[in-house]
Amino acid sequence: MRPKRFVIVAVDGGAASGKSSTSRGVASRCEFMHVDTGSHYRAVCLACLDAGVPADGGERLDQFLKKLELSASIECNQARIQINGRVPDENRLRSGAVNSEVSRYAALPSVRETVKSYQRDQVELARSRGFGGIIMEGRDIGTVILPDADLKVFLEADAATREARRREEGREDQIAARDKQDQSRKTAPLQAAGDALHIDNSKLSLEQVIERVVEAVQHCA
Ligand code: CDP
Ligand code: CDP
Repeated sequence: MRPKRFVIVAVDGGAASGKSSTSRGVASRCEFMHVDTGSHYRAVCLACLDAGVPADGGERLDQFLKKLELSASIECNQARIQINGRVPDENRLRSGAVNSEVSRYAALPSVRETVKSYQRDQVELARSRGFGGIIMEGRDIGTVILPDADLKVFLEADAATREARRREEGREDQIAARDKQDQSRKTAPLQAAGDALHIDNSKLSLEQVIERVVEAVQHCA
């Protein structure tokens, strides 16, 4: 299923809309590198919380962000962010504390600038490591980070379905509050690119969604 040429796919959507599981499935079927940009904001948020640096856009935050060294560690086909040489613990990244604070940090232009070039550099990293393409997921991938992506996908699912998915995962998360904050911020809000393929997956299985995206990848290759 590897496409004939290197393909760049941007996936955006609200919390629990299926971005990560769909992107992982597509990456494995198409031999792509998968980049979860939500984990970048989670990692920066966690580093700030650990250091007691508040999300106030102040001088202390700016100085702290300037000192962060970001690098990638590729495990199977997933590029994981390392902060100062270490991959953050996955459970801590998905904890209730990070869930409730991450959108406040992600709304700050200084935080977004900190990860922007790192995120864009992932395309060349994927190419240089011989992947068939890259699939990058987040909130502003099709609109800001990779506006020239070959394929843009916007995933949607109704609120009740998304809440139920998080409950099934046993995770504490106020997804409606997070979506509201992500949609209303001034810098790079959560929104679909004008040319995105919208997939409402409230009533679709994960396999069906993956299949639709794989088909779209084959079309643009
Ligand atoms: O997995 P889930 O959809 O719950 O969240 P995530 O993708 O891990 O993203 C966590 C948070 O990071 C989001 O609620 C946004 O505040 C922020 N984020 C962002 O602002 N821009 C992105 N490209 C990705 C995530
Ligand atoms: O990355 P994001 O927060 O957008 O969502 P996710 O972590 O991929 O998906 C949240 C949960 O919904 C996971 O447990 C998925 O297995 C499930 N899911 C589903 O049941 N049906 C889909 N079409 C997509 C995701």
